[in-house]
Amino acid sequence: MKVLCIEASCDEAAAAVYDSESGLLAHRLFSQVDMHAKYGGVVPELASRDHVRKVLPLIHEALADAGTEFNEIQGVAYTAGPGLVGALLVGSSVARSLAYAWGCPAVGVHHLEGHLLAPMLEPEPPRFPFLALLVSGGHTLLAAVHGVGRYQILGSSVDDAAGEAFDKTAKLLGLPYPGGPALAKLAQSGRLGRFKFPRPMLDRPGLDFSFSGLKTAVVVATRGLELDDATRADVAADFQQAVVDTLVAKCRRALEQTGFDALVVAGGVGANQQLRQALADLGAKIGVTVSYPRPSFCTDNAAMIAYAGWCRLAAGEHDGLSIRATARWPLDTLRAPAPAE
Ligand code: KG4
Ligand code: ZN
Repeated sequence: MKVLCIEASCDEAAAAVYDSESGLLAHRLFSQVDMHAKYGGVVPELASRDHVRKVLPLIHEALADAGTEFNEIQGVAYTAGPGLVGALLVGSSVARSLAYAWGCPAVGVHHLEGHLLAPMLEPEPPRFPFLALLVSGGHTLLAAVHGVGRYQILGSSVDDAAGEAFDKTAKLLGLPYPGGPALAKLAQSGRLGRFKFPRPMLDRPGLDFSFSGLKTAVVVATRGLELDDATRADVAADFQQAVVDTLVAKCRRALEQTGFDALVVAGGVGANQQLRQALADLGAKIGVTVSYPRPSFCTDNAAMIAYAGWCRLAAGEHDGLSIRATARWPLDTLRAPAPAE
């Protein structure tokens, strides 16, 4: 079964073609980072307007890369939420219209389900059940993944997401948007230990996170300091270490609690090398397999949505003629794929 997929939930437009026999055939992405950089964050209206320009050309390119004609496509998957509703509407309207024109089913996919299942596209996919740490710009959560569509949320951030904390702290340090990768790069030249930042909520039981206090701690620690290059790098290094220590400690706690022997790390912050190394070290120490999607499939992409969409379409699930765009959509309301009634 060949599936075309469209992702346009925030500031990236992407298209992919997935084949159940031979795997991922093609994926294309256009990032609006340069467009939003001068505003210091995503401007929703600009994001949707640009998706209008980019989505169809990306689909053409992905189909051409895959050597696939449109009449070979047997299903269309698209990100239906959560995300910016204007952006979602562009992707969902195009997806639903193409499916209508081509006479095939369409299914709306949960963006976070895409992230959770992204490691399934790798040569050695994890086996269910596993623990997933999802760390993106909008979400930080730990979930027990029992199977496709069977997600139990064990903990989540009570305030800022990990990526948001990276982005806000990067802004304080005068780094360009998006801050996460820029801060991680700056941290490489920093010395650890000059600043004592908290490891939020580690002293309490449970698996929830809180990152807004960490950002405040950075504001307080740098007040009155001259932020020369060396100081900014030191702040970046200690901040990154505080986030990594916190995420690693909560993963360890969740693994002990569930008894799972596999951990999957997904979402944009999953591209952070320091985090990947620390989790690999934890895995080696406690006998847990740690897997990640390749870095380009940690951040937003259409390949992950194509895989999740295929799982649902293959089970006979589809959305009829409706066009779905849901800004807020709790992950644990999802169900295992099932045929449409
Ligand atoms: O998953 P994603 O691409 O989009 C959302 O669905 O949110 O995640 C984007 C987030 C941003 O906050 C970005 O700063 C962060 O992931 N990020 C990183 C790194 N690469 C991306 N944070 C830390 N280190 C990185 N290397
Ligand atoms: Zn995402």
